[in-house]
Amino acid sequence: MKISIIGCGYVGLTTGLALAELGNEIILVDVIEEKLNNIKEMRSPFYEPGVDDMLVKHVSSGAITTSMDVVDAVSGSQVTIIAVGTPSNPDGSMNDSYIKEASKNIGEALKVKDDFHVIVMKSTVVPDTTNVTIRSIVEEVSGKMSGKGFGLAMCPEFLREGAAMHDSLNPDRVVIGTYEDRTFQILEELFRPLNSKVLRTSPTAAEMIKYASNSLLATKISYANEISRICENVGVDVYEIMEGVGLDFRISPQFLRAGVGFGGSCFPKDVSALRHIAKDRKIDTPVLDGVMENNDIQPRHLVDTAEEMLNSLKGKNTLVLGLAFKPDTDDIRSTRSLPVVKELIAKGANVAGHDPKALENFRSEAPDIEYFEDLDKALEWADIVFLMTEWPEYKEIEWDSLETPKVLFDGRRTIDSSVLKKTRYWSMGKPLPKW
Ligand code: UDX
Repeated sequence: MKISIIGCGYVGLTTGLALAELGNEIILVDVIEEKLNNIKEMRSPFYEPGVDDMLVKHVSSGAITTSMDVVDAVSGSQVTIIAVGTPSNPDGSMNDSYIKEASKNIGEALKVKDDFHVIVMKSTVVPDTTNVTIRSIVEEVSGKMSGKGFGLAMCPEFLREGAAMHDSLNPDRVVIGTYEDRTFQILEELFRPLNSKVLRTSPTAAEMIKYASNSLLATKISYANEISRICENVGVDVYEIMEGVGLDFRISPQFLRAGVGFGGSCFPKDVSALRHIAKDRKIDTPVLDGVMENNDIQPRHLVDTAEEMLNSLKGKNTLVLGLAFKPDTDDIRSTRSLPVVKELIAKGANVAGHDPKALENFRSEAPDIEYFEDLDKALEWADIVFLMTEWPEYKEIEWDSLETPKVLFDGRRTIDSSVLKKTRYWSMGKPLPKW
């Protein structure tokens, strides 16, 4: 099939590559020329394992082409996937301006297109965006009716950054939210080679499935983190507790890793958007409110505990190891490293940061701290280390062999503490050691 994709962020680009891998022809559209130039030169516009190799394969074979002209791209394809950004407004609501713009352009193209064309919404959007906002704009601009002149569906994306290619090609489920049989059949055929369970719903239900899934995962993390603070005080290890909890098949062990909290482009944004949707409808959300509140507590709790254990952090050289919101990405959106850095500065510490991929992105958020490109030099400088992202290279550090012994605070349970003899170590969710 010929498919145009509007928006070359994580979702758009990896979806395009996955569909090219399944044998389709893809036109990638974006308003940022530099992104398209990167793609043409077979370089990913962001760091994501596997994307560069897939670009080399599918750009050189001609399966992937690029365009800045939405109308042109839509005219030359059978299906258009909308994967533009849906950033948060300052009040937590969703900003739908890019979606409206894309819908207008698609409508313009459909005005003069004879064949039946399917529009698929893939970005995470608030309920009714597909069936009300997109439908009304495309119908008005194109002069055609949804279900007759064109098809409309919502298919949410569930990929994780750092594993985006794997997740795009091996989804747990494909949700196809459409009222139209013809559109459903076309999309079922498109996604059939993925061999995944297909769930057909309405477009609005598909939109809610995405919010409800991400919010439940975020809730599991916040729950584990709340239990973690209790465990520290009771004198037991939260990892042992969650192992026991997760063995219940109704719960599963996934997303119960306690630590410094969740970051990224999805969980904080989606939980906030869902709270906003509820607030607009005058529905109370004490669970979702608590999920966010608890996520804000964890970075403060880490730094406060360090200060208590060491009496003071004032004037100490503190190294924040890991700035990306998780390993295998250069993404720093809602990274927990930023609130930790701010807390450390507020407590009078000298703060420096290191990250294998996200250093430059983080520098623009925190220009006043020191940065180390070289891990050895960073470790040489530090008295105290806060381990914030579980990059593989940090697991390789031989802490006990470092020239000056460190005090190590682990926000992500990265280190096997049983091998440490000289290094003073505490990981969130463990009983407090006596130093
Ligand atoms: C998430 C969802 O997993 C994905 O399905 C959705 O499409 C987008 O949002 P992503 O943000 O890429 O994906 O990362 P994920 O691996 O889910 O981790 C999110 C954050 O939660 C990270 O900061 C991670 O460190 C944290 N996390 C995750 C925990 O603190 N504990 C856990 O047990 C799991």
